[in-house]
Amino acid sequence: MSFSRPSTFADVVRHRRSVRGFLSQPVPKDILERVFELAQTAPSNCNTQPWFCALVSGDKLETLRERIPAAFTAGEWSMDFSYDGQYQGVYRERQTQAAAELYRAVGARREDKALRHKQFMRNFSFFGAPHVAFIFLPEPFGLREAADCGMFAQNLMLALSAEGLASCPQTALSFTADPVREVLGLSGEYRLLFGLSLGYEDRSDPANQCRTERAGVGEAVVFYD
Ligand SMILES: Cc1cc2nc3c(=O)[nH]c(=O)nc-3n(C[C@H](O)[C@H](O)[C@H](O)COP(=O)(O)O)c2cc1C
Repeated sequence: MSFSRPSTFADVVRHRRSVRGFLSQPVPKDILERVFELAQTAPSNCNTQPWFCALVSGDKLETLRERIPAAFTAGEWSMDFSYDGQYQGVYRERQTQAAAELYRAVGARREDKALRHKQFMRNFSFFGAPHVAFIFLPEPFGLREAADCGMFAQNLMLALSAEGLASCPQTALSFTADPVREVLGLSGEYRLLFGLSLGYEDRSDPANQCRTERAGVGEAVVFYD
């Protein structure tokens, strides 16, 4: 199967979107190395580079693909950073719109709670991806350095996009930080911000028909002259 690579910077940026269905085919090591080398060029406060990224594949990922959904379903949540997903006003509208688009793509109507739940649960098996990048913020870093991690993650997603690869950043993967740390042999000092599933897009997965919109520049940016 061929995966076209975007050629201009604008194409690379626009090609990136959250993909929620991957082929099981792993990404060759040399491509992953190229991608992470680019991700690593991200800027950070005082060049502290406060991210720790664990790229997990193979047996360890298969262990997590079993353990994370089981822990989530059993209510064994372990979040290092609080998140209740309760947005208000325009933010709530955008959240609802994005969810509606996804459920429309997979044909899950409002009353079809079982199908919606099934789609949500796919988060915890990484949408079938062969690799997951878990992004940790080590102690004692806080909000400012979390922004640095965001820059690293965006670099990573754009580098993947430039290679014709797909990704999905997932707060959902931070709900069960303990089993992730346990499987990776990490101490509690490594606080899990989010995970990012990555690999080749499964174009036959209906979830990947989902598209989101953005507010116009005028709503988010003011040009002061
Ligand atoms: C930090 C972060 C966490 C996210 N968490 C999830 C998640 O847990 N599950 C999911 O399906 N999508 C998640 N997303 C994807 C967003 O829903 C998506 O970026 C947004 O709807 C815009 O769509 P796009 O990425 O396709 O442009 C997350 C995105 C970011 C940046």
